[in-house]
Amino acid sequence: MNATAPLAHDASAHSTIHTGRYARCISASKRVRWDIDADVIRGRQLDLSQPFLPNGLSKVDELAFLSAAEARLLSQIQGRTYAYIFGLVERFINAKVLEISRDHWLENQTALEALVRFSDEELKHQELFRRIEDMVARVMPAGYRPAAEANAVAEFVLGKSTWAVLGLTCFIELFTQQHYTASIAPDADISPLWKDVFTFHWKEECQHAMLDELEWVREDGKLTADERDHAVSDLIELVAAVDGILQGQATADVEYFTAIAGRGFTAEERSALDAVVLRAYRWQYIGSGVQHPHFMRLLTSLTAPAQMTRIGEALEPILQA
Ligand SMILES: [Fe+2]
Ligand SMILES: [Fe+2]
Repeated sequence: MNATAPLAHDASAHSTIHTGRYARCISASKRVRWDIDADVIRGRQLDLSQPFLPNGLSKVDELAFLSAAEARLLSQIQGRTYAYIFGLVERFINAKVLEISRDHWLENQTALEALVRFSDEELKHQELFRRIEDMVARVMPAGYRPAAEANAVAEFVLGKSTWAVLGLTCFIELFTQQHYTASIAPDADISPLWKDVFTFHWKEECQHAMLDELEWVREDGKLTADERDHAVSDLIELVAAVDGILQGQATADVEYFTAIAGRGFTAEERSALDAVVLRAYRWQYIGSGVQHPHFMRLLTSLTAPAQMTRIGEALEPILQA
């Protein structure tokens, strides 16, 4: 796939060959379609007597000095951030989906419909996450601070090559599924409403990950070897930018937690909180994607060994910290 520069028409041939896969995404999207109020929220409010983000993602069980109530509060702050980060990334994901749908406007109408549904779902998900933030803000003390603004992040991300943006999107939408099946679905103790939000979200994300792969491979077919090498550099810069947001959010969330926890923390406890929350965020948004076997197979199939080495070297300090 990356040995030679393919002819321009290969990109449209790609979507024709894969029409059946686009069609399966449409039928799955129709089958699982849900409504924010009727299916997800159902008149409920968030209950602070239950944790939000499961331990497998939040890592709060690694902080032995926290009481059960403090560990629950930290999982709720992380759960609030989890919804915020998804709303944040879905702003640029949706803009990119709308942009690449242009290639299908006068071509494959099945591919176009699949991407239009994808976009419609991401708009709905962003609304859901805004609703969740409003609900959390009603029951938690003031002072929560998001580290980045969705449109500013989208401006930066959309300035990078489409190959890199689709690679990052595929990465995010695959680890979303990993989080759900490995950590969220099996956890019987977390808030039922918070769990429902991510159960319904997961149902629509399954199709998105399939479409990301189709579109990423289609985009790959348009690139020369030089363009792809530049795109790999862009992908590395995007992951570094994600890490910058995670560092800012980890700091903000620990400050919020220590301000509202109702007691003082020693310097050692404070540094353990900083370290564990940053490690948890890096695991949630970077490490769990890097360990996703399908994502790594796909990335390896689209890149040369030297490019995979460059990616590995860029990831190492983030994942070993
Ligand atoms: Fe989504
Ligand atoms: Fe999605």
